Amino acid sequence: MTVSVANSMNDLIALCKRRGFIFPSSEIYGGLQGLYDYGPLGVELKNNLKNAWWRSMVYERDDVEGLDSCILTNKLTLRHSGHEATFTDPLVDCRDCKSRWRADHVNGKCQKCGSTNLTDPRPFNMMFKTTVGPVVDEESYAYLRPETAQGIFTNFKNVLDSTSRKLPFGIAQIGKAFRNEITPRNFIFRVREFEQMELEFFVEPGTDMEWHETWVETRMNWWKEQGLSSDNLQVLHQKPEDLSHYSKATVDILYRFPHGLEELEGIADRTDYDLGSHSKNPEDMGLSAHVSPNIDSTEKLSIRDAVSNKAVVPFVIEPSAGVDRGVLAVLTEAFTKETLENGSERIVLKLKPHLSPIKVAVIPLAKNNPAIVEKALQIKKDLQKLGLGRILFENTGNVGKGYRRHDEIGTPICATVDFESIEQTPASVTIRNRDTTAQERIEVSNLVNYVRDFYQTQS
Ligand code: GAP
Repeated sequence: MTVSVANSMNDLIALCKRRGFIFPSSEIYGGLQGLYDYGPLGVELKNNLKNAWWRSMVYERDDVEGLDSCILTNKLTLRHSGHEATFTDPLVDCRDCKSRWRADHVNGKCQKCGSTNLTDPRPFNMMFKTTVGPVVDEESYAYLRPETAQGIFTNFKNVLDSTSRKLPFGIAQIGKAFRNEITPRNFIFRVREFEQMELEFFVEPGTDMEWHETWVETRMNWWKEQGLSSDNLQVLHQKPEDLSHYSKATVDILYRFPHGLEELEGIADRTDYDLGSHSKNPEDMGLSAHVSPNIDSTEKLSIRDAVSNKAVVPFVIEPSAGVDRGVLAVLTEAFTKETLENGSERIVLKLKPHLSPIKVAVIPLAKNNPAIVEKALQIKKDLQKLGLGRILFENTGNVGKGYRRHDEIGTPICATVDFESIEQTPASVTIRNRDTTAQERIEVSNLVNYVRDFYQTQS
């Protein structure tokens, strides 16, 4: 048997469309560039990845609270955060064919017509604007948030006051972010609407560099637990000239996507930039020059030091991961093509079981046999109660086809219900393992325990 992995994005795009993971958005109207919808399996995979992140960030720690803030954002928030002035990419026009490009993506040559007759780069702000309320005028605009982080900073005081947290502590959020990317590309890698999993971890000033290192290590380990291999992961310390306007230091976690080694997550030391920028009277707190002089928020975003009783503006370490890039990375890693000894091909998505969209497929051997179908439905119901995720009743009547489909979508276990399951005592089913294709008989009375143990030991 020979094995190969996904070396082309086309393999993944085709699988995602064929099996219902990811579709181009508004496809029946020709699509809308840089936007994708998640189908029946994609939504499960994405939710599983987000749940794994939430578990590790919130439930398994004692120093992080959760939050779900609004997408529509007051323009002042994004003015004081620096996004109105600096959240830009360099844009160039092709003078010949009139197309527009991100300057650092084109190497001086139009990607459409090949012309080198390009304008000088000029800054293009990537935030989407909209209006709020029935009056549409100069002042009624707001933004769709370009990062979830700002909702965390503007709720810093609310969370602090309602939880009595002391430093160090964090606030975690998963949600949509929007960027009007000049050139969205590489499937769901660079899109205009995406999701982020962000933690703002507030620490004593002076301890930030140590925490930065800790978080880089924690996040690398987490990605490995999602099935990404060390060979395909790398850390990159961003050069000072590449840092975002708020960052003192950023470490990127890079992944070897089908199109190349690129950023999966960024871990930034945002210092006191944001809390300072959103605070009234920043000069009282000895904040640095980045703070805008006409601050008009209603709060000082600081915390009382337990010993000195002085107001301290915490520094912030921010691990910020893209959900969509995470989905693309785990799909890339899991996609396997095996050429079997008889020459046939088997596509297997070797996802970590906790990420698999379907946890168990229950397949009746004969779709028209009421006793077998009824038994299969009962088994599905019993397994569903485990709360592992989706258990699928797969009544196509073709077990071989069922196995192939579930290999392709990454279902770790298929349980086939046959005549022995209804005629023999004790009743049993065939369990087939996705990765080894090995089959074994398991008594129906042991099945719930078997599946529970499988998920406890495999994930
Ligand atoms: N709050 C910090 C922040 O937003 P970022 O590096 O601009 O930092 C964080 O974004 C992560 O969000 C990236 O590492 C990437 O995974 C994801 N991301 C950013 N822009 C994206 C886009 N256009 N499409 C998909 N994911 C994107």
